Amino acid sequence: MSAREPSVLIRPRQDQDLPALAKLLEVIQPLEGYPKSRPESLENFVRDERVIGAWVVEEQGVVVGHALIKEQLVGGIDDIVHRHTGWPKDRLAAVSRVFVSPETRGKGYARQLLRHCVQEARRRDLLPYLDVDTQTPAPRALYASEGWQSLEITTVTFPSGVTLELDVLVLPEA
Ligand SMILES: CC(C)(COP(=O)(O)OP(=O)(O)OC[C@H]1O[C@@H](n2cnc3c(N)ncnc32)[C@H](O)[C@@H]1OP(=O)(O)O)[C@@H](O)C(=O)NCCC(=O)NCCS
Repeated sequence: MSAREPSVLIRPRQDQDLPALAKLLEVIQPLEGYPKSRPESLENFVRDERVIGAWVVEEQGVVVGHALIKEQLVGGIDDIVHRHTGWPKDRLAAVSRVFVSPETRGKGYARQLLRHCVQEARRRDLLPYLDVDTQTPAPRALYASEGWQSLEITTVTFPSGVTLELDVLVLPEA
């Protein structure tokens, strides 16, 4: 099944989706270390802060994936994007919280969500960018296959205390 078939839908996230999304992360986190360490509340993790827009992918009425765009103020990543691209920091949109249920992997849902986030950022005249843990091959392969390119690798310690090496990426026209 492809994300273009009528039973598959990308739609804006609603608050009612948050428990189901947190349940997906309950499964993903111990299996794949996303997020790296389990936060106190997975629901708050996926809800996130400073969100510009958030979307889910629904297969036959069941929410199976998620992505959002947000202001990313942690770790000076917006400084890195600004320095390399010249885009003002208040016109940057971080693509984040990208995940798909293990049962529905490989169907192109993450790719569809990613493209949707890019489209939505550009529609708002924002520059989409990504930061990805250098230790996670699947998302890195996804982003590379979509043409995202590395600006810089940086080490960031989040307020949670977790330290990650992150690759900061943009699409080539940036
Ligand atoms: C990364 C993730 C979102 C991919 O979801 P998905 O819906 O299966 O991905 P897609 O089907 O859209 O795959 C698109 C492309 O990504 C790459 N890709 C996806 N999963 C991959 C894997 N396990 N290994 C290598 N490449 C992979 C491939 O290039 C694939 O294209 P192809 O199928 O034509 O080869 C999913 O594995 C996931 O939820 N991982 C845990 C959460 C996470 O790490 N999120 C990223 C945070 S930055």
